[in-house]
Amino acid sequence: MLDWNDEPQTQTVKPSAPQAPQMPPSMGTQDVDHPDPNAIDHGGATGVEDVAMGASRIQVDDKKIINCKADLNQLVPFKYKWAWEKYLDGCANHWMPQEISMSADIGQWQDPNAFTDDERAIVKRSLGFFASADSLVANNLVLAVYRHITNPECRQYLLRQAFEEAVHTHAYQYCVESLGLDEAEVFNMYREIPAVHDKAAWALPFTQSLADPNFKTGTVEDDQRLLRDMIAFYVVFEGIFFYVGFVQLLSFGRQNRLTGTSEQIQYIMRDESMHMNFGIDVINQIKIENPHVWTEEFKEEARDMIREATELEIRYAHDTMPRGVLGLNASMFIDYLHFIANRRCAQIGLAELFPGATNPFPWMSEMMDLKKEKNFFETRVIEYQAGGTLSWD
Ligand SMILES: [Fe+2]
Ligand SMILES: [Fe+2]
Repeated sequence: MLDWNDEPQTQTVKPSAPQAPQMPPSMGTQDVDHPDPNAIDHGGATGVEDVAMGASRIQVDDKKIINCKADLNQLVPFKYKWAWEKYLDGCANHWMPQEISMSADIGQWQDPNAFTDDERAIVKRSLGFFASADSLVANNLVLAVYRHITNPECRQYLLRQAFEEAVHTHAYQYCVESLGLDEAEVFNMYREIPAVHDKAAWALPFTQSLADPNFKTGTVEDDQRLLRDMIAFYVVFEGIFFYVGFVQLLSFGRQNRLTGTSEQIQYIMRDESMHMNFGIDVINQIKIENPHVWTEEFKEEARDMIREATELEIRYAHDTMPRGVLGLNASMFIDYLHFIANRRCAQIGLAELFPGATNPFPWMSEMMDLKKEKNFFETRVIEYQAGGTLSWD
């Protein structure tokens, strides 16, 4: 069963007894458990090293989430079963945008009386943000994160996630095309609309820091750079920045309007919740294996990142909703985003930023439970396994 807000599963990994690393002879004799921070050859394997014929077989205790020197091209034996389970869950939730009917949305959008100007602006603004946001997330995965996560079962999930991000970008393109929106206006929004631009601009430096071809993990400072990026993308981008847009677009569906678009968002939100939980599990596993990187100073920095991002998302809510619309207003999102920020802090072991915040949108948890969506799966040619129950707490 899936629980998108499940507790981090990393705590269940039993610490292994220290054991001599099994390394290809070509990789030297550096102590992999205690890398010398001053060594030039820090960081982990990438998976493209020469194959070491006759090297010792991989043991589970050789595996490490970052800075692992052992061969990365062997999926088993599994060490992080939670990562493999998430890969299987992601595959079980497979869906494609064109399997969702957009015909009702097309008819409604063409009706000049069906939406107010504010409602139309919200639809366009949300699609504009998401259309480029998922591309930024995908780029961060494949150009920054993947290389530095030195574990095959986690990489297996990252590959699945990368595909899902492509599906999401496809879904937004499909919505834009279906509604007949101005593609140039929507896809350029992150360069033309400050509220959209500011969120992308906040996150990009974290990717850029890691995408430097000379960057390697392996020192406290560099491992913290990786953690910063993972907090920026998994906790903030996928865990906070998406949620004003999700609530706004799903609110149409709750009024039986734009039901196709709303259903696309439901499937995307289910995927995103799993992405976020995977990232949180990785962050927590890095902490378990490298407790020296999780300093008090770094924790405060992480809380500052989440605080700053929450303020940006509140500003986005104000910018997209200058007046009340769809039964929503910007001040409701202050409570909501404070509530989410607290949750995100707790998930990675940080003190809450906004004690006492409550959730004004409890219906969002129901939106995660796609078992209720009978019409979609009943019409599919291939019967994929529907996702499990998802809960919001
Ligand atoms: Fe996505
Ligand atoms: Fe995602």
